[in-house]
Amino acid sequence: MEIQETAFIISTYRSYHEDISKDTYARLWNNPKTDALLPDILKNVSEHEAILHSLRNRFFYEKMGAFFEKYNGGTLINFGAGFSMYQFSLNQNVLTIEIDKQDIITYKKEKINHWMKQGDLPNRSIEYTSLDFNIFSEDRMVDIIKPLIKKAPVFILLEGVLFFLSSEMRDKLFRVFRRLQNNGDVIGSVSYLPEAQETEVYHRLLDYFDKHNDTNDSFMHQTTPISFYQNLEGYKMINKIDEFELSKIYAPKLNIKNKGQILNEHLYLLERN
Ligand SMILES: C[S@@+](CC[C@H](N)C(=O)[O-])C[C@H]1O[C@@H](n2cnc3c(N)ncnc32)[C@H](O)[C@@H]1O
Repeated sequence: MEIQETAFIISTYRSYHEDISKDTYARLWNNPKTDALLPDILKNVSEHEAILHSLRNRFFYEKMGAFFEKYNGGTLINFGAGFSMYQFSLNQNVLTIEIDKQDIITYKKEKINHWMKQGDLPNRSIEYTSLDFNIFSEDRMVDIIKPLIKKAPVFILLEGVLFFLSSEMRDKLFRVFRRLQNNGDVIGSVSYLPEAQETEVYHRLLDYFDKHNDTNDSFMHQTTPISFYQNLEGYKMINKIDEFELSKIYAPKLNIKNKGQILNEHLYLLERN
């Protein structure tokens, strides 16, 4: 499996639970190859994966919607955007900068332009930037992204990406964020707590990736303690929730008894100060 394939998996998850994810465009990316992978993951890793990823999307859908409403627009910078489609549910006064590896960006740009032309998607202002966080220096990333920011305030999203990066790369990205943002701007980030490594379900996830990683892609299996966010220079933590708590709000019928049984990612909002 290539890391990029995980982007197809996540968007297919969102399409399975549109009522929860609120992503009614995710289904545009559905394809037979990804459909064929999912039964194995849901059976051998965790049956709740699709709904948990939909809950994650719902959280950011709500928070970004409120943020851009309050400021009457702004810029969303989506780092490791994959096939996420927030830009089409946000108001059209939001400019989006999509950042990912080259093959995802090339493919996404072509498909989105086609769907907008066809009228399958509403028109939006979107900038596409391909870069590899592991290769590009901090200065180079700032030099490329900064001129694309045409509208304040800035919401930076880092969703479903940290798991694949080393701590050094994570620290580099957050230094980039600090240089791109001003007071009142917000970061949304997702990561596993180190404690997740003790759970059986996390081991099953790693086993799955180990068995299916037939490329040179690095899956770093990163976890991040809350203290990383609490001590982040230039930011204060304004919201923290996990998917277990989100399920009680947006999917009460799911009734997960024990948070140790699920791949319980934590979601954070951090405000630049
Ligand atoms: C699991 S997907 C998540 C996509 C999207 N954020 C979402 O939540 O649906 C991870 C994404 O991170 C991107 N990614 C991983 N490592 C990266 C790197 N070193 N540089 C740029 N993008 C990277 C992958 O290409 C992929 O699109």
